[in-house]
Amino acid sequence: MILGIETSCDDTCAAVVDGGGAILSNVVGSQGIHDRYGGVVPEVAARHHLEHLNAAIDDALHRAAAGLGHLERIAVTQGPGLVGALLVGVAAAKALSAATGVPLVAVDHLEAHVAANFAAPAPFEPPFVCLVASGGHTFLARVEDRTGFAVLGATLDDAAGEAFDKGARMLGLPFPGGPHLQRAAEGGDPAAFAFPRAAGVPGLDFSFAGLKTALLYTVRDLGEAEAARRRADLAASYQEAIVDALVRRVERALEATGSGRLAIGGGVAANGPLRERIAGLGAVVHVPEPALCTDNAAMVALAARDRDPLDRAAALALDAYATGERDR
Ligand code: KG4
Ligand code: ZN
Repeated sequence: MILGIETSCDDTCAAVVDGGGAILSNVVGSQGIHDRYGGVVPEVAARHHLEHLNAAIDDALHRAAAGLGHLERIAVTQGPGLVGALLVGVAAAKALSAATGVPLVAVDHLEAHVAANFAAPAPFEPPFVCLVASGGHTFLARVEDRTGFAVLGATLDDAAGEAFDKGARMLGLPFPGGPHLQRAAEGGDPAAFAFPRAAGVPGLDFSFAGLKTALLYTVRDLGEAEAARRRADLAASYQEAIVDALVRRVERALEATGSGRLAIGGGVAANGPLRERIAGLGAVVHVPEPALCTDNAAMVALAARDRDPLDRAAALALDAYATGERDR
């Protein structure tokens, strides 16, 4: 059994996965406290992890009917993410590993999102193209095997989920904005406003900053009352621009790689119109169940199955990283 720990952002997560990839428990403690600030406050997130991680780990072990003695590996997200938040998970994992002698595996958060596709009982086997779109990251990867992937493109500025969240805020909708914006868009005309799709960004990279600014100016020009009256049209057109930008890059990635297999993950994978458009591409599509798409520790434990544990000295010296990636 593998214990996974994930604290890269605002969810305090622990999970137990077995060697075959079956998920025995997947505990996610979401920190509702950030809603009132309209976004995640790093310092608050780290303190919350500190208070709740031990309980989350106990809960995950209990639900899996496992004790520390059953563990063959302890897996922890090393980065990228909020460094203060990551450090809480890394310190807990190091302490558990040192105290029990169970080997420690350091996992990259983006690799974990890809590994969410490998869960039993229906693992999606490489090769495939993977789109991960969440509040913190948006990238396309070519996955050749379970041990890693090549990044084909990534956002140059905001993540797709961040674009949803910021757009929702401009339209007076609560945080997190994605699901609220999707609901507000129902019945709206997606062609009412022509928002940009970052057509000038070549290749497989994404950009959402221009779109965000376009919505800001449109709302300002309409005025508060008119923007409120046309909220469904604004939401539908804005959502359409994000979905279109994502789907166009996915299409290009499938063409460029000659692959007919696509996996999507991250919180934005829950978006209805995105899923409809993706389903129309003619590729074999795999979407992990929702609990594996958003941040969770089961995906961290899944990734650890195919990665080497650190030796004792490296485990004790393990540090978190905020941005970038490890050498692969
Ligand atoms: O993967 P996730 O739970 O956490 C991060 O790692 O960020 O993703 C959260 C993001 C948020 O930006 C949220 O607005 C977005 O996913 N999201 C959605 C939907 N549900 C969640 N975006 C669009 N449509 C949705 N239905
Ligand atoms: Zn994530």
